[in-house]
Amino acid sequence: MDLATDICGIPLASPVLNGSGTFDAIAARRAFGDAVIEEFPFAAYVSKTITRHPRAGNPPHRLWETPSGMINSIGLPNPGLDDFLTGILLEFVELPVPLIVSVMADSAEEFTELVEAVSAVPGVGGIELNVSCPNVHSGLIVGEQPVETEALMKTLRPLTGLPMIIKLTPNVANPHEVAVAAEAGGADAISLINTLKAVAIDPAHRRAWLGAGAGGLSGPAIRPVALAQVRAVSQAVEIPVVGMGGIDDGESALDFILAGARVVAVGTENFRDPRAGIEVRNGLTGALERRGFASLADAQASTLS
Ligand SMILES: Cc1cc2nc3c(=O)[nH]c(=O)nc-3n(C[C@H](O)[C@H](O)[C@H](O)COP(=O)(O)O)c2cc1C
Repeated sequence: MDLATDICGIPLASPVLNGSGTFDAIAARRAFGDAVIEEFPFAAYVSKTITRHPRAGNPPHRLWETPSGMINSIGLPNPGLDDFLTGILLEFVELPVPLIVSVMADSAEEFTELVEAVSAVPGVGGIELNVSCPNVHSGLIVGEQPVETEALMKTLRPLTGLPMIIKLTPNVANPHEVAVAAEAGGADAISLINTLKAVAIDPAHRRAWLGAGAGGLSGPAIRPVALAQVRAVSQAVEIPVVGMGGIDDGESALDFILAGARVVAVGTENFRDPRAGIEVRNGLTGALERRGFASLADAQASTLS
């Protein structure tokens, strides 16, 4: 079955992307060789979020395994914009799939610098605005507030002709209100969900396990929450939705498409299986056939009763 599709003008060989920060294409190439590039697991590559200045990330511990998921408090370690532009970005643009660069900032000025600099690099196909990371307080502020989200989008929209995807936080009562504001501000697509605010208790001491105190829950544990939010958001906006949260096979990917996502992203499952993107893509064909769809487009166009 032909799985070719697109997201806001970016052509895709299948509807399966990676979630930002969950697949290090360069480390994977180092570990597994050029085979990773030749059979790249995703139809587009979403890079880990970068910020204007370098970040070391949060103190350890940074990970905690839960039933059906994990909590991370990685805290967006990254080289900062300048080193990104002269370093890993040059490797990312060589990947055989469209590149979407994820950026985050704690002010409109820094977002502006990031968007302008990244847009100027040939080979960048789109920009994802991370306003949803639960580990960084400044990210929460914009993504929790429809008014701030719309204002940020209106500032950034004129700066680039590239598609802009805004990644929402699930840690709000009504994510569709933020999505509607993002659309009004000029966003080309919405992606969700990022991780859910979570805490683990150190089994041996009277303290939180994670160095940052709290982190973000991901993996199959969050899938029903993600499906609910994807459904609510896709009913509220006209722009396409990138659905994610606990996708680990073709069936769960199809669930997101039926909930209203145009395309999906695989996150935590990549840590268990670096070929997860391929498994999900191959599994999606069987899932579509089993549920009686003649094509991906049929599933994308269908609505739940
Ligand atoms: C270790 C880890 C790092 C992540 N880093 C980022 C990031 O840099 N930027 C971002 O927007 N989302 C980040 N995420 C969130 C994922 O992209 C995704 O939205 C979330 O994990 C839900 O999908 P999943 O359940 O399939 O993992 C990260 C998630 C994990 C588990």
